[in-house]
Amino acid sequence: MKKLVAIMTSMLMLIGLAGCGNKQDSSNKLVVGTSADFAPYEFHILEEGKDKIVGFDMALAQAIADKMGKELVIKDMSFESIMIELQNGSIDLAIAGMSPDEKRKKVVDFSKTYYEGSQSVMINVKDKDKYKTYEDLNKKELSIGAQTGSIQADLTQKLTPNAKMVGLAQMPNIIMELKTGKIDAAFVETVIAENYAKAHPEVMILSEVPYEAQGNAVAIKKGNEEMLNTVNEVIDEVLSNGKMAEYIEEAVNLSAYDTAKNK
Ligand code: ARG
Repeated sequence: MKKLVAIMTSMLMLIGLAGCGNKQDSSNKLVVGTSADFAPYEFHILEEGKDKIVGFDMALAQAIADKMGKELVIKDMSFESIMIELQNGSIDLAIAGMSPDEKRKKVVDFSKTYYEGSQSVMINVKDKDKYKTYEDLNKKELSIGAQTGSIQADLTQKLTPNAKMVGLAQMPNIIMELKTGKIDAAFVETVIAENYAKAHPEVMILSEVPYEAQGNAVAIKKGNEEMLNTVNEVIDEVLSNGKMAEYIEEAVNLSAYDTAKNK
């Protein structure tokens, strides 16, 4: 009997806990995690003297929140902590120019892709005669940068395994280290690289590099089918009605400011 009571109490506690867990779903806020160092996807601007996170990912986040009738709350964090925060439920969605790669698919669910990003490698303009392809960078005396926890960090190890991989938390630091010659090259998402090359004439894109999990998708905690369906619905909508193209154009125009600021 005692045992039964104990089992029943713990069952009740579990139901109680499950109730708490659901609270976030039923609350009127949609908490989206991102790493706002990634123009034009997500970045900071000053609007009337106030810091604001914008970018086409954030416009998509707003469209998802609107669809759900929830208030959008953006949580800015380091890129490498996003997956953990999503799994422990402190954010509802991760929208961070995230590539749906196999390793991540084991721990979170991914929406459809909403943007076809590709990968590039950047070098200093002064080295343009030294390196013709990314294969020329696969030398042990070279240091190659990438954002910590990103697929670019994996790419560094895969495509230039002999070089020294330098992981940095923030995109602007990667560009800074490249310009000052602390690193010789960096793997960067192509649109981001284009933005930086425009704002910093000392650096350039050497070439695009091969990568199989192309495109970006929204990451969702595993098993939340309702959320996944809603996100996919919104992605279908914004892709077919031209909204996504507008979000991108607007973000690209705005981001000239952000990338220049980090000169
Ligand atoms: N697409 C790359 C990845 O998934 C890099 C994304 C970095 N995103 C950011 N907001 N800093 O690993």
